[in-house]
Amino acid sequence: MKEKILEYLHQKHNYLSGEELSSHLGISRQGLWKHIQELKDLGYEIVAVPHLGYRLEALPDRLFAFEVTRGLKAKTMARKIYYFDYLVSTMDLAMQLGLKGAAHGTLILAESQTKGRGRLGRSWFSPKYKGIYLSLILRPQITPSNSPILTLLSAVSICEAIKETFGLEVQIKWPNDILAQNKKIAGILTEMNAEVDKVNFIVIGIGLNVNNDKKTLIAQATSLKEQLLKPVSRVLLLQAFLNKFEDNYSRWENKGSSWVIERWRSLNSSLGQRVKIYYQHKHLEGVAVDIDQDGGLLIRKDSGIMQKVTSGDVMYCRQP
Ligand code: BTN
Repeated sequence: MKEKILEYLHQKHNYLSGEELSSHLGISRQGLWKHIQELKDLGYEIVAVPHLGYRLEALPDRLFAFEVTRGLKAKTMARKIYYFDYLVSTMDLAMQLGLKGAAHGTLILAESQTKGRGRLGRSWFSPKYKGIYLSLILRPQITPSNSPILTLLSAVSICEAIKETFGLEVQIKWPNDILAQNKKIAGILTEMNAEVDKVNFIVIGIGLNVNNDKKTLIAQATSLKEQLLKPVSRVLLLQAFLNKFEDNYSRWENKGSSWVIERWRSLNSSLGQRVKIYYQHKHLEGVAVDIDQDGGLLIRKDSGIMQKVTSGDVMYCRQP
């Protein structure tokens, strides 16, 4: 019912009479008043003027499922949304829901995480209402070795969504960090449930620093607010990401991986750089030459020998 009331209030930019609204909805004036109070408790600014009715003045900065769904073009992604004020980690719940058969495109959103996790056992700082913390359950028909393409596709979709919504150019640092002015603005964590030759489901976890204040971030991190010098709408960004991701996903299903790799190449900041890669307690230095069709990074060592790495942490070095 609250969604319907909001729908009406959104449509009407002027006052909407209580009588009209309650008769449209088939509820009593008293019932309507109760729902309006509940919406106010959720942070909606609704003014009520005697003889005129109700008017929606401002929305709360929340990723409520019905705010994300309103005006969303995507049909498969986020068809089902689980929304929480806080979770330990959206990844944990997504993995549990995946095991229980949650549909392709199921989205888990949390306004904060008490133990958000990043790649390589790191944690992900997830302060309340500041960022976007999401996990998306996918059921692609692929083998586990093909799964990195979906991480690349997610990185491309994040960059495109940020550019389209705010006009800000961001880059991808291999394998899946999103950088603005060389500082990390978003990260992607991919987990899966698979058999040797078949993926059962994949969970793409994304953390985006949106309205974080500079002073709360470590020196190597940034946020959209810091880059754009103003707070921005998390709902708009999330919708843009879901729309892009859905378009890109179906293009990948129809046309294959090559264009994803091409697009990734055009957005990356790693290729051509001298890098030091830390992986499995080892490290490797050389020039990042390319990525292959599986998303592996090809390094030319100083000996001239090429080596492929499939996971690890990249540091950019000065050219010798
Ligand atoms: C990284 O750069 O190391 C990946 C960070 C991924 C963080 C996101 S936040 C939403 C989802 N839930 C988690 O616990 N982690 C991912």
